[in-house]
Amino acid sequence: MTDRLTFVLNGKRETVENLPLTTTLLNYLRRHKRLTGSKEGCAEGDCGACTVVVGERIDGGVHYRPVNACIQFMPMLHGRAVVTVDALAGPDGALHPAQRAIVDRHGSQCGFCTPGFVMSLYAMGFSRAPADKFYIADALAGNLCRCTGYGPLIAAAEDAAVTARPEWDKQRMAMESALLAEFAGSGAALEFSCGEQKVFVPFNSDQLAALYQEHADAVLVAGATDVGLWVTKQHRNLPKMIMIGNVRDLRDVRVDAGMLRIGAAATYADASAAIAQAAPDFGELVRRIGATQVRAAGTIGGNIANGSPIGDTPPALIALGATLVLRKGESRRRMPLEDFFLAYGKQDRQPGEFIEAVEIPLPDDPHRLRCYKISKRFDQDISALCGCFNITVADGIVADVRIAFGGMAATPKRASHVEASLTGKPWRHETIEAALPAFENDFTPLTDMRASAAYRLQAAKNLLRKYFIERSETQTATRLAGRAVEAL
Ligand SMILES: Cc1cc2nc3c(=O)[nH]c(=O)nc-3n(C[C@H](O)[C@H](O)[C@H](O)COP(=O)(O)OP(=O)(O)OC[C@H]3O[C@@H](n4cnc5c(N)ncnc54)[C@H](O)[C@@H]3O)c2cc1C
Ligand code: FES
Ligand code: FES
Repeated sequence: MTDRLTFVLNGKRETVENLPLTTTLLNYLRRHKRLTGSKEGCAEGDCGACTVVVGERIDGGVHYRPVNACIQFMPMLHGRAVVTVDALAGPDGALHPAQRAIVDRHGSQCGFCTPGFVMSLYAMGFSRAPADKFYIADALAGNLCRCTGYGPLIAAAEDAAVTARPEWDKQRMAMESALLAEFAGSGAALEFSCGEQKVFVPFNSDQLAALYQEHADAVLVAGATDVGLWVTKQHRNLPKMIMIGNVRDLRDVRVDAGMLRIGAAATYADASAAIAQAAPDFGELVRRIGATQVRAAGTIGGNIANGSPIGDTPPALIALGATLVLRKGESRRRMPLEDFFLAYGKQDRQPGEFIEAVEIPLPDDPHRLRCYKISKRFDQDISALCGCFNITVADGIVADVRIAFGGMAATPKRASHVEASLTGKPWRHETIEAALPAFENDFTPLTDMRASAAYRLQAAKNLLRKYFIERSETQTATRLAGRAVEAL
């Protein structure tokens, strides 16, 4: 047992005692350390004003990612390195290139969002992706600016992307790497306490299974992109938590025997490349979940476990025929993902049982799955509805159909009547049109602030039409390409 949280803050070892365990990193920085560069705009992961960079030791190197400090609980930082905007400038006050670019390009007016943008620009320096316009727009999608306009900010990002990292920055990173290496503990699970509050930090899934069986009343916390808001918005008291972000084997993402296996604690950032390879459209759907900061922390397991009817990964996973692996103590059970969602807010999960992984059979044609997320904004928005289609056509006949939707019912759900109506029929326009009324048997959607019931139903029908057109166009393009090759 320990009540001492240790992490690296701006290149220096930091030890924290007697801190309420749901204290957010942002509150710790601002209120306890008086590091007030990071700002609080929304306290729910939406605006990016609180963006900091967190470094984690993986396979001997330090991986840095931007996160929203407002929804990270302090025990999640144990053994990690935190870099804040306060530490970017050089010892002589020289601006870091991420700061200099914003000054030179006039990327700041009131300045409230600026520290968050600076940190997102800084985080871009750790990416290996080419810093083109597409990448920059994605990297800045989690930062909201109400006054400057994004033109100057994108120009600043372009400048920052081609400017070398200064020496003082490299020195701080070397220090972080050395300090993080010292943290490699015995591998035994940790326990923090503060008054009545307890947090357990397991390092492997056997430890997690034993802890959760013994403390089935604990709240599991993965990336806290949902649970963080229970505290910052609902002011809930969480007396006991098990933080699973350090359970390494639960973060494994691997392809094995025709199956993509994603550990439940793999973040979107951990899993997105493998997902995009298996099914590019699912990769694109994942890229539209929250923004970079949310995807660095949020997990696939959390997206399934929260049982949200508008979670984005369940419809895609169901359409791909994914299997959920649940574990309680030493026993495991598997089920088709769609069977996990029983009713609104109710999943087939027993006390002390956790999601270990999701297993996705690799599609023979990666492009057969199409995912359509309908939301009011393209980036950083929750779906009004999300439809995922995976239809196999053999010799012009619909051989197999899996269609799943989010936002159309109390749970993520298959369109089983539509599927039945399509199966065995010729793959042509008339078949699609004849299947459309079946949506009304499958779904009775709600009207809420995101969309009306009528809109949702109409959009769902239109998505099937869209899928048909897109697939037919792809087939035609492939056929024409084949003819062109034959003609050579
Ligand atoms: C700004 C913002 C934007 C967002 N945008 C989107 C979006 O576009 N699309 C979308 O789908 N979601 C979105 N979300 C919601 C959220 O990011 C996702 O649902 C995310 O996947 C949750 O994962 P997490 O690791 O953060 O879960 P946590 O918050 O840690 O946990 C969520 C729930 O799952 C439980 N849990 C976690 N892991 C396990 C496990 N292995 N076994 C059993 N139970 C477990 C927890 O106890 C809790 O009940 C957004 C959230 C924010 C803050
Ligand atoms: S304060 Fe808005 S994302 Fe953290
Ligand atoms: S400069 Fe005012 S919010 Fe961005």
